Amino acid sequence: MIGWTVVNERSDLAPDPARDSRMLFGFWYRAMPSGELTRKRLDKALLLETPLVLGRDRRGKPFALYDACPHRGMPLSYGRFDGTEVECSYHGWRFDAQSGRCQAIPSLTSDQPLKIDRIYAGRYACQEQDGYIWVFIPDPSPPGAGFTKAAEPSMPVPQVPTFGDKCKTAHLTADLPASVDHGIIGLMDPAHGPFVHQAWWWRRGSSIHEKQKNFEPLPLGFRMSAHTPSANSAPYKLLRLYADTDSITTTIDFLLPNQRYEIIRAGKYWFSSLTTVTPITRDRCRIDVVAKYNLFRWLPLGSGLLKVFFAKFVEQDRRTMERQSEGLRHDPHLMLIDDADRPAKWYFQIKDAYLEAKRAGTAMRHPMNGPVRLKWRS
Ligand code: FES
Ligand SMILES: [Fe+2]
Repeated sequence: MIGWTVVNERSDLAPDPARDSRMLFGFWYRAMPSGELTRKRLDKALLLETPLVLGRDRRGKPFALYDACPHRGMPLSYGRFDGTEVECSYHGWRFDAQSGRCQAIPSLTSDQPLKIDRIYAGRYACQEQDGYIWVFIPDPSPPGAGFTKAAEPSMPVPQVPTFGDKCKTAHLTADLPASVDHGIIGLMDPAHGPFVHQAWWWRRGSSIHEKQKNFEPLPLGFRMSAHTPSANSAPYKLLRLYADTDSITTTIDFLLPNQRYEIIRAGKYWFSSLTTVTPITRDRCRIDVVAKYNLFRWLPLGSGLLKVFFAKFVEQDRRTMERQSEGLRHDPHLMLIDDADRPAKWYFQIKDAYLEAKRAGTAMRHPMNGPVRLKWRS
């Protein structure tokens, strides 16, 4: 079996626009927070440069269609929606919102035999999960294939793991002027913490110290194995109010295409989040964080405070990447160093391996052979 054989150990990341812009099709992506999608109007979203029109039918069930009419390309989002069918604003073709199947072509006379039920507006699998509308973006169909009935997704919608029924949910969204790759490696980079996330409530720059973390491969990613969170972080100090120092553990998983799961457990208390970085276009992405937790339930305003801190944290990342994009615009030569940037290297290697296996129709060769210990100062 020929698979992916060369594990590229180079330490620099030469600018390669083709590589940098590759988006992974065939996965579920977050389109928008559930609360923003109402029954009253059609909404638009752009995911992986795919224009979508989204809405909710009469029963409240969300749907997503390709936002260009199969007749002559008018965006369907300009059309009318009666709760069941979307009507194109140009020549009035009507499509069932859930299946995308054509229901009526007003210009046809009764003796014209066109089989309208073979015509589809591109339809995308669409589901609601943890307060978000998710859309499955399949591989693009070959040019000229037209729209037929869409294939069903090959995997379930990702979920925020929970460890009990009683919990609260919070979410945050930020647009980043960066490619999905820079968004993702910015998220897994341990060395920026002391410089970007300095705040009295988080940690002081002077608290930088050496750390060791164990990593292990996962089928489409890798895990930072369960460990006691950094002693110089504020969440850790807060968590000590809940449980013995030794019983507090954090596990962080990264999975293709764009998912970062973080689970903190402290006795019977837990905090669980799923952060995604969604490609909008080749040079724009969006970060969405959904957290579920049973901590802070007794703290007055606990949740609100948590959200404010969290928002500040994400805003610091957003602002940093905004500035970084000023430099990236000039296509500078870049490098990734060991060990702090090793997770970023794995990300690129896993992505390459995944794409190569898909192209060749073989099993994916994971770039990690087993557990690895990394060291850095942060
Ligand atoms: S472009 Fe939509 S009906 Fe003609
Ligand atoms: Fe950060």
